[in-house]
Amino acid sequence: MARLAVNVDHVATVRQARGGREPDPVAAAVMAELAGAEGIICHLREDRRHLQDRDLRVLREVVQTRLNMEMAATDEMIRIAGEVKPDLVTLVPEKRQELTTEGGLDVYGSRERFKDVVQRMHGAGIQVSFFVDPDTRQIESAAECGGDIVEIHTGAYAEAATEAAARGQLATIATAVNVSSQLGLRVSAGHGLNYINVKRFHRIPLIEEYSIGHTIVARAVLVGFERAVREMLELVRNF
Ligand code: PXP
Repeated sequence: MARLAVNVDHVATVRQARGGREPDPVAAAVMAELAGAEGIICHLREDRRHLQDRDLRVLREVVQTRLNMEMAATDEMIRIAGEVKPDLVTLVPEKRQELTTEGGLDVYGSRERFKDVVQRMHGAGIQVSFFVDPDTRQIESAAECGGDIVEIHTGAYAEAATEAAARGQLATIATAVNVSSQLGLRVSAGHGLNYINVKRFHRIPLIEEYSIGHTIVARAVLVGFERAVREMLELVRNF
């Protein structure tokens, strides 16, 4: 049985739209755990566009399952991770202009740097996951650098324009998962998964965990909308 880890970044995106206090990603994390999620994920971006430093620190206090901090492997983030001590960091590429993480990390191209990052994280008692495309060279590099986990980027599958393309991408992911497992890496997957396209993954049982965020927040807005309107109506109608 695979696990679900819930990314709460986009709860913070809604909050940041007004710069206020609601909705609180920490409250969402607690609710996700109550619903059965076995991990909470958040991405502290360099530009702090959604999650804030305080959120990360409060999440560390509150999360009872596993806190997975997504981050670019910058000196600033390595320092913050060392202080906050999430259970796990997921190393991702980060570009300022992107709407979301666009591609997998080039582990191969910076192996010496990533070996050092893994050592520093392990020294702080933090496990390391590499977010990579389903690409053998990147997966082998993640193993060579001492990574514990690879998170396979499912974006190309999620964005496939045709049925044939989706099948092809899924086959590529299945191969990547086998390679990872043979190298002794634990395997997660995520990015762009939703309530429809996730269903095909039942064919890839070696994936231990799914990292899912945007679609859960998007669905929560709609499935909760009617109740939220009714609650406000009740207040206003009693005036
Ligand atoms: N995994 C990684 C490494 C990500 O960067 C993201 C997006 O923040 C996700 C999973 C979750 O993607 P989504 O929000 O599309 O479910």
